[in-house]
Amino acid sequence: MDPIRNPYAPGAGQRPPELAGRDGELAAIEVALERAARGRPERSVVLVGLRGVGKTVLLNALRSKAIERLWGTAKIEARPGLSLRRPVASALHLAVRELGARHRDPARVEEFLGVLKAFALRAAPSKATLRERWQPGIEVPAALGRADSGDIEIDLVEVLVAAAELGRDVGTGVALFVDEMQDLTPQDASAVCAAFHEISQQGLPCVLVGAGLPHVPATLSASKSYSERLFRYVPVDRLDRDACDRALAAPAAEEGVAFTAEALAALHAATEGYPYFVQAYGKAVWDVATGSPVTADDVDVAAPLARADLGVGFFGSRYERATPAEREYLRAMADLAVDGVPGAAVATSDVAGVLGRKPSSLSPARDALLKKGLVYSAERGRIAFTVPHFGAFLRTQP
Ligand SMILES: Nc1ncnc2c1ncn2[C@@H]1O[C@H](COP(=O)(O)OP(=O)(O)OP(=O)(O)O)[C@@H](O)[C@H]1O
Ligand SMILES: [Mg+2]
Repeated sequence: MDPIRNPYAPGAGQRPPELAGRDGELAAIEVALERAARGRPERSVVLVGLRGVGKTVLLNALRSKAIERLWGTAKIEARPGLSLRRPVASALHLAVRELGARHRDPARVEEFLGVLKAFALRAAPSKATLRERWQPGIEVPAALGRADSGDIEIDLVEVLVAAAELGRDVGTGVALFVDEMQDLTPQDASAVCAAFHEISQQGLPCVLVGAGLPHVPATLSASKSYSERLFRYVPVDRLDRDACDRALAAPAAEEGVAFTAEALAALHAATEGYPYFVQAYGKAVWDVATGSPVTADDVDVAAPLARADLGVGFFGSRYERATPAEREYLRAMADLAVDGVPGAAVATSDVAGVLGRKPSSLSPARDALLKKGLVYSAERGRIAFTVPHFGAFLRTQP
């Protein structure tokens, strides 16, 4: 069918034509925001799941809900080894633009911007800005003595409390969205926990909505033991059969195209409901089908094309980031992994056994893979792929 009208959207962070199976979370955030705006205790939410299950698009959808409710929203993506001070400063600056416009007292808004500037100016200069001091682009003088200690654990609390107070003034609040949360540095993870611990005690309208790989809960509790009580971890997973059907059928229906029941069953079987795979197969089957309804035969024809596309875009792009030594490690994991059990972990000692090496000699490769987000370890001594079906893909590689 006409590729120009193809509605499906495989790709990292690509908004799906139909956000299927996430109604519960979308409803829950409305309640959480309303409660927080009224000063009621509300735990922050962290979405956890494997690569390609739809964490980023859900995070963005939750952010849209907050914007609809006139909350100030700040979104950042954590990066390995990079401090969150600068991205948080820029994101809060934008959030306060949304809020400030509705605030009755411009002096209060300016006061906050002064605190924000003080917070921002404590950022360590990067290579690009070593010569000139980085300018956060805030046109007020920096405040003195608030959020400028240089200790992120102190400063983050102060700047978020100040932002939340501004939100409270206009009857809403401030929501901070943090994607790739597993990449927060240990100090930053600790500071985030401490900040939201304090905010919840003060009953301020500031919520965190995070997203990250399955080991985020372990990472956060390693930095602050109370993090388990602070955050509500929401697993983001495969779409069940109904949601999978809806993700495929609803966008097609908008274009006047239907699927046969057999085609939908075949697509669910092929994708196992993994959102990224659903989009990739949807896209491929649309392109090969000659008209409505799309049939199971079309799915058969499209499957190798979808697999090839995933091999490049989903698996290949990640595989390419691994060095030869890391690939060897991944390959050994793939040979050990139990098929059909997504996210099944293998013992690192077994990986060493397969490679005939001492476990300690493999730590550099393993640590690099952890940093690149290709594998994760939710339990000491065990390791798993973050990418669903990565093992099967690796076994097809020469
Ligand atoms: N609920 C959903 N229904 C249909 N398609 C979805 C859904 N959620 C996500 N998708 C699709 O799945 C793909 C992956 O989504 P997204 O990038 O949000 O995943 P992710 O979990 O953030 O992955 P990563 O860990 O690699 O960042 C996108 O193509 C998106 O359109
Ligand atoms: Mg993502």
